[in-house]
Amino acid sequence: MTMVADDIQNLEGRHVLQTYRRQPIALVRGQGVRLFDSEGREYIDLLSGIGVSALGYGHEGLTRAITEQAQTLLHTSNLFYHPLQGQLAARLTNLSGLERAFFCNSGTEANEACLKFARRYWHTLGEARPEIIALEESFHGRTMGALSVTSDEHYRTPFEPLMPGVKWISASKPQAVLDAVTNKTAAIILEPIQGEGGVRPLTPAFAAAVNEASQRTGALIIADEVQSGCGRTGYPFYSAVIGLKPHLMALGKALGAGVPVGAALVSSEVATKIMAGDHGTTYGGNLLACRAALCLIDELIGGGLLSHVGRIGQHFDRKLQELKAKHACITDVRGAGVMRGIELDRDAAAIVPAGLKRGVIVNRTAENVIRLLPPFVITEAELDEGLARLDQALGDITA
Ligand SMILES: Cc1ncc(COP(=O)(O)O)c(C=O)c1O
Repeated sequence: MTMVADDIQNLEGRHVLQTYRRQPIALVRGQGVRLFDSEGREYIDLLSGIGVSALGYGHEGLTRAITEQAQTLLHTSNLFYHPLQGQLAARLTNLSGLERAFFCNSGTEANEACLKFARRYWHTLGEARPEIIALEESFHGRTMGALSVTSDEHYRTPFEPLMPGVKWISASKPQAVLDAVTNKTAAIILEPIQGEGGVRPLTPAFAAAVNEASQRTGALIIADEVQSGCGRTGYPFYSAVIGLKPHLMALGKALGAGVPVGAALVSSEVATKIMAGDHGTTYGGNLLACRAALCLIDELIGGGLLSHVGRIGQHFDRKLQELKAKHACITDVRGAGVMRGIELDRDAAAIVPAGLKRGVIVNRTAENVIRLLPPFVITEAELDEGLARLDQALGDITA
């Protein structure tokens, strides 16, 4: 049955809890970096489902892998071994330099796991460490723990009281972390590039201060690489680029290239403090999720996709500088690889519908920032076409 956008919207309007403000189109098909709506209109996707669809749509290798897996075995629960969790954990630990992986189903769950593992670490050591340090402009997810270290009041206030003991610091002042950390700090949690906060890369100076604060007091470092990780910046993880030395790392989004999967990676010191029964989830690391993530990693490393993102990133840089030179409303362009922010001198909300009219999908975050998170597989020509449409949309909103 084909449904038109109005039918789809009406049905949802009656039955789906209205927690999302959706754009008035319904996406029904994708091919490469292009999406098609229920009315047959085509869009270049510069957002990949908020940083998820790294391999674009209809990717041959991913489609084959998950089809084969669906025909063989989808799920076992964590009561049994299956062949893929160990393989995926080996690949991720090898890429990150951390020791072990715990699998879950989303970014917020990955952060939740990291927070619990940090608490558990200090509990095992018999030390009371009630404090967590988090950053202003942070976003770590919507469950209670992850929300407690997410800075935006709009997300937090209706759900208070949240987890106590969180101290907030500014990422623009390296000294702030040294001043804030104490012998009561369990962990410092941070995104190497703050995504929702406006695509703000942390500086190497800030990362160095975090490392120093951790060495001084033993506070664990949790790198939330949910958005910046798994190849999006042209590197496996952006922590390494800025010199951050995490003990725990949260992954999600691009990891499954569209199949929901998250992971918490931990160092050997942390791993030895976690006991059987400390944490768990029914779906976590099931065969379908692991197969998709293994496919992404094969493409990144064996298939040359990581170097492709590096090259596209350089091209992206040049094109965004050109766009900035052309539009007086652009005050800054930031980011790395295929994770980019274009800051405007005004609220950027109008760019989303204007983009849709011009056939390009982008996102607005932190009020005045246009966020671009295209699929990793995007070519120079496709990026140019998408940015040309964005250029027109920028013209429309400033005319
Ligand atoms: C840095 C970061 N952490 C965590 C999350 C939460 O991930 P999820 O929406 O999969 O729960 C997000 C999602 O936007 C994110 O950008």
